[in-house]
Amino acid sequence: MLQRLEELKQTALRELEAINELPKIESWRVRYLGRKSELTNILRSLAELPIEERKSAGAVANQIKNHLTASLEQKTEILKSTSQKQTALGDESTAIFNDLTLPGRPTPTGRLHPITETLHEICDIFISLGFQLVESNDVELDYFNFEALNIPAEHPARDDMSTFWIDYENDRGEKPMLLRTHTTAVSARCAATMKPPIRIIEPGRVYRYEATDATHLTMFHQIDGLAVDKGITMADLKGVFYEFARRFYGEGRRVRFRPDYFPFVEPGVEVAVECAVCHGKGCRLCANSGWIELGGAGMTHPRVLERGGIDPDKYTSFAFGFGIDRMPMLRYGVDDLRLFFGSDLRFLRQF
Ligand code: DAH
Repeated sequence: MLQRLEELKQTALRELEAINELPKIESWRVRYLGRKSELTNILRSLAELPIEERKSAGAVANQIKNHLTASLEQKTEILKSTSQKQTALGDESTAIFNDLTLPGRPTPTGRLHPITETLHEICDIFISLGFQLVESNDVELDYFNFEALNIPAEHPARDDMSTFWIDYENDRGEKPMLLRTHTTAVSARCAATMKPPIRIIEPGRVYRYEATDATHLTMFHQIDGLAVDKGITMADLKGVFYEFARRFYGEGRRVRFRPDYFPFVEPGVEVAVECAVCHGKGCRLCANSGWIELGGAGMTHPRVLERGGIDPDKYTSFAFGFGIDRMPMLRYGVDDLRLFFGSDLRFLRQF
């Protein structure tokens, strides 16, 4: 009996030692100190033993019981304090206590880039007017960027858009790929892939091989729009622009349309809005003209529709395109476009 008790003590202590998490402690207690445990059974059966044996075995059994109970308490304490430490520590090793009065650690939140914000605002307005948002690749085919838009090879209009060409060569030894020079390329793609009625806006990055200065970068943002349907007229174009200007710039800002030339529209116009600072009188912001140029627009050239597989006798269309980057410049009075792309957080955090 005494030998069995000694064995029991050793196994119990060994197992307790190996326990490393609180929940396992309880099953150990049941196994070695519970009502149905071997030790309790032995203690119960002591009464049947002859008196001498009962005395010695009883003393040893009680000693073991006390020892195991004390060890259990000790182990519980140790495990409790380590689990608390782990909670308090999180993944850092400096804090030791779970001090609930400490201020929380702030989670840094990002924000949208001022140009992204402007883009979202513009898109929201056009979407609410029934336009659908379309995005396409920055790497484009010569065909959609130029050819489909009435700008064949050798056409002087190509000179306005110094182009980054891609090295890729096709079977015929041509290099037909480029970084799109305007988002109007997306309109050409959509004219070829979508069926009228079409009402889309196409924001995105565009690229031109130009010298960099305060108002020019090799990469900038544009948004184009295209509406194709039966009976669309210039009045629709003007209506959409008046509404856009009213919502984006505020009530009462005048919009000016002047004849202009773009190979893919006929007639073509230049669109400008009244300067917010001088209301048309002329100031430093608008270079004394009283107006701030937005971009180009016009009635889509019948040949452009035709190339897209749309019958120009049945459908008419207006198109527009303007630059995005100047809008936050004017709104926040930033005089150097490069600041927006310099990733200097001291600058970007201001917005
Ligand atoms: N793509 C022209 C540019 O980048 C702007 C433009 C003019 C777009 C007239 C149009 C348009 O859709 O109708 O200079």
